[in-house]
Amino acid sequence: MKGIILAGGHGTRLYPMTVALSKQLLPVYDKPMIYYPLSILLLAGIKDILIISTPEDTPLYEKLLGDGKRIGINLTYKVQDTPRGLADAFILGADFIGDDSVCLILGDNIFFGQNMTLILQNAIKDLDGATVFGYPVKNPKAFGVVEFDENNNVLSIEEKPENPKSNFVVPGLYFYDNDVVEIAKNVKPSKRGEIEITAVNNEYLSRKKLKVSLLGRGIAWLDTGTPQGLLKAAEFVEAVQSTQGFYMSCIEEIAWRRGFITAEQLFELGQELKTTDYGKYIISIAEEAK
Ligand code: G1P
Repeated sequence: MKGIILAGGHGTRLYPMTVALSKQLLPVYDKPMIYYPLSILLLAGIKDILIISTPEDTPLYEKLLGDGKRIGINLTYKVQDTPRGLADAFILGADFIGDDSVCLILGDNIFFGQNMTLILQNAIKDLDGATVFGYPVKNPKAFGVVEFDENNNVLSIEEKPENPKSNFVVPGLYFYDNDVVEIAKNVKPSKRGEIEITAVNNEYLSRKKLKVSLLGRGIAWLDTGTPQGLLKAAEFVEAVQSTQGFYMSCIEEIAWRRGFITAEQLFELGQELKTTDYGKYIISIAEEAK
């Protein structure tokens, strides 16, 4: 399975913070936002990853993450000239996807929870068409909202509805078989002029190939779309890390735990960052492993 991180857009809801800097490069406590979705792909065991961003920002992601070899993965980059909608990721990424299946994660989506790795592995193992998730929120209007019948069968997904039919929304983490490329190419732009991921999901639903897997309250899905959301996400990361002593979304640690790099390589990566707590953490994990 291939992975795509979509890190485009103008981040207008975070102006002036994002006038000069891509939203997904902003810090969430002690690391750039994109580390969090990248770590989800790594936890899923995905090593071939395409990062899509704007013409101005793509070089910055390349500077930050390079070709991924240092953590044992393959990173490639694709420029999106204008933000045409989330489904554009599969059109821009068609050659990268080839005849594989693909997981798309939005560059501003942060997930955390005990069962996350198992949830990801099951989504990949059981994939038959499309798997997306349903997560309960207080303000469903801002998202893609799932409509269920009385037996909990999915009837539709509506993008940012005025009158949401449930409080379950679809977070920015999606698993698709290879049909997604052809489906995305045939999606018509919505009223807001975008080729919506929700239209892709509804096409899978009409083919009876959409699974909506419900996430419970044991999973945190953090909003980074507003200054307040960003601050709360940073506080959440700090609270977890300072309480547990384990880091959230330390990509070097995950790469080692997944077997992409050795303990010796992990130690070297820690050495490069040894003046920071982040680097000291990596060194301590590497030393325990030896
Ligand atoms: C997008 C999707 C929406 C989804 C959300 C998750 O919204 O269109 O269906 O629920 O991501 O983050 P946007 O970020 O474009 O407002």
